[in-house]
Amino acid sequence: MAAGKHPLGVRDDFVWGASTSAYQIEGAAFEDGRGPSIWDIHSRTQGRTANGDTGDIACDHYHRWPEDAALLKKLGVGAYRFSVSWPRVLPRGRGAVNDKGMDFYDRLIDGVLDSGIQPWLCLYHWDLPQRLHELGGWTNRDVAGWFADYATLIATRFGDRVKHFATFNEPNVCTLFGYGMTWCAPAAEDRVAYLKASHHLNLAHGAGVDVLRGLVKDVSIGCIYNLQPVHPADETVAADHEAAAKLDAHWNRVYADPHILGHYPNVVVEDYEPYMQAGDLARICRPMDWVGMNHYGPIWTKAAPGSQMGFAWADVKVADAHPEIGWEIFPEAFTEQLLETSARYKLPVYITENGCGRNDDQEIADADGYVDDFYRITYLKLYTAAMKAAIDKGADVRGYFIWSLLDNFEWGSGYGNRFGIIRVDFPTGKRTPKKSFAWYADAIKGVLG
Ligand code: NOJ
Repeated sequence: MAAGKHPLGVRDDFVWGASTSAYQIEGAAFEDGRGPSIWDIHSRTQGRTANGDTGDIACDHYHRWPEDAALLKKLGVGAYRFSVSWPRVLPRGRGAVNDKGMDFYDRLIDGVLDSGIQPWLCLYHWDLPQRLHELGGWTNRDVAGWFADYATLIATRFGDRVKHFATFNEPNVCTLFGYGMTWCAPAAEDRVAYLKASHHLNLAHGAGVDVLRGLVKDVSIGCIYNLQPVHPADETVAADHEAAAKLDAHWNRVYADPHILGHYPNVVVEDYEPYMQAGDLARICRPMDWVGMNHYGPIWTKAAPGSQMGFAWADVKVADAHPEIGWEIFPEAFTEQLLETSARYKLPVYITENGCGRNDDQEIADADGYVDDFYRITYLKLYTAAMKAAIDKGADVRGYFIWSLLDNFEWGSGYGNRFGIIRVDFPTGKRTPKKSFAWYADAIKGVLG
């Protein structure tokens, strides 16, 4: 389809959306039979999150979702990406189904559809049922079967109304940070556990794709990758180049390459050999309909001899950093990554996350809760222009989902880092659209103020 009339050069059927995830917004952690996830345990462990914040209440979306659906409608998006909390529907990860949990997603999906918005359902956004973790979690090869059973439950119940599914959100973050670098649940630092976890997640992905394809009529299946160009911290240091090559493979290609191209990147093939069984790559590489790409900025890395992974993030700034969170404003990397992803995988690309975080104490609300977040608008203007540049150069970009609809629980940063285009006053749950909400609503319509 040719480019439409939108000033960003996007197709007429371009999907404008907004993204959230279950643990970051739902709350109601102890209600209606929900079981604990690894993130409940992690966030309740001292020292794991800023300020000891947890997702126990979060945005209280579990109760306030009708208001959120109304805000999505007001925003004018065509799609809403959310995730299902595995332990809310299967409190022990497998076995007995929690009907009240399933009913919640039924109401939510119907409510979103009633607002004229397509639900895009992500099966896994990091909240593994704790019970499964106790059985080895992602390091146990059986997890692929557990995931397939969970996918079967979801596809059977919601597949009549949900047509867009993602198996995983950012497999790199939950496995590398969760098992290799301690920054995410379950906070391990163990190279072998990481390698097993990532391979088993890939097997789960393949099994999940088969389940969805078999059970959902007219389904459209993707996986959501966090893709970022990786650079050596010091161009003149050979070890930094090696670290960058390794991190690039583990971060950007250990998931999408086997899922779509049917092999692990050369640099890491040997690492995975001990955990591979005959036929694994065929189990992992199942036909997909699209690639989801989350992107915020590039990465600089340095060698970290003696560490489990051998590489570390480096604090190099060559562009304007977000003044408050240290992430860089580097739209050229977005263009580069979109072009690379589109060319490498030859599938339609949906930008499933992009947005601007700002530290709580820098994001000032007036007495009514309104935030004039001009810096977020600046970021969004630069990044949507970078998207246009990629489209103009031939990248097959089909959609853009903003992160995030609401301020929410930003993992290790707790509530101290706000990404929403709607402010959430956490003590009361009150929602107030920010200036960027109006900007995004206009941008969707083709008005780029
Ligand atoms: C990626 C993750 O998918 C999401 O959960 C997170 O909040 C945003 N990026 C911002 O860090």
